[in-house]
Amino acid sequence: MKMRSVRRTAAVTVLAALIAVSGRVAAEDDLRHMVDDARKAAVQILTQIRGEVTKELERSGPLRAMVVCKYSAPEITSTISRQTGMRVTRVALRVRNRALGEADPWEQQALLDFEKRLAKGETIDTLEASEIVNEPAGRVFRYVKAIPMGQPCMNCHGPVSGLSEAVKAQLVNEYPFDRAVDFQVGQVRGAVSVKKSL
Ligand code: HEC
Repeated sequence: MKMRSVRRTAAVTVLAALIAVSGRVAAEDDLRHMVDDARKAAVQILTQIRGEVTKELERSGPLRAMVVCKYSAPEITSTISRQTGMRVTRVALRVRNRALGEADPWEQQALLDFEKRLAKGETIDTLEASEIVNEPAGRVFRYVKAIPMGQPCMNCHGPVSGLSEAVKAQLVNEYPFDRAVDFQVGQVRGAVSVKKSL
């Protein structure tokens, strides 16, 4: 009798452990899928915005190209948000438009970490971070991917001395609190941020 109950206890323990492991594997699998989806959305946004900025710069110059960062970028992020059911935005530590681009504390931490990782030699194209966090409204999947500062971006986010007079005047006029200048090619300009409630 005693022997049987020991055996039963052991069986229950093994079963509980198996369930716990398979639960963990399933959760890890879910997380991996969410990261894959988020990365795909972020890459699509980066490619599309970079393409449009380059095209518009060639076609009509830096003053007109501003509309890409101002109007096309939010259009692209909201289209992709609608298509994927995830909330996708662009954020940065130093922003031009505070109303849209200011990073929240989780994003700030990730962006600071990106700068450290970049300084240690990691390549900018693979800088990403993800986590499931508990927020007051519930559990949320979070993901960020670095936005690299590229050559075309220098027209409007590079050192002020290199900006055209027209761009400088427009920036002073529209963004008196602009902090999104003085970046160098290869630096982290910001991040594409993805959020999904679980
Ligand atoms: C022709 C000028 C111009 C060029 C070129 C340009 N941007 Fe911008 N960028 C802007 C303006 C203007 C804003 C503010 C838009 C707004 O009002 O929301 C902005 C905003 C941003 C933001 C949002 C955060 C913030 O600072 O407000 C990011 C991120 C960004 N740009 C990245 C880039 C990258 C990366 C490139 C190169 C691929 C680039 N930009 C090229 C003008 C430009």
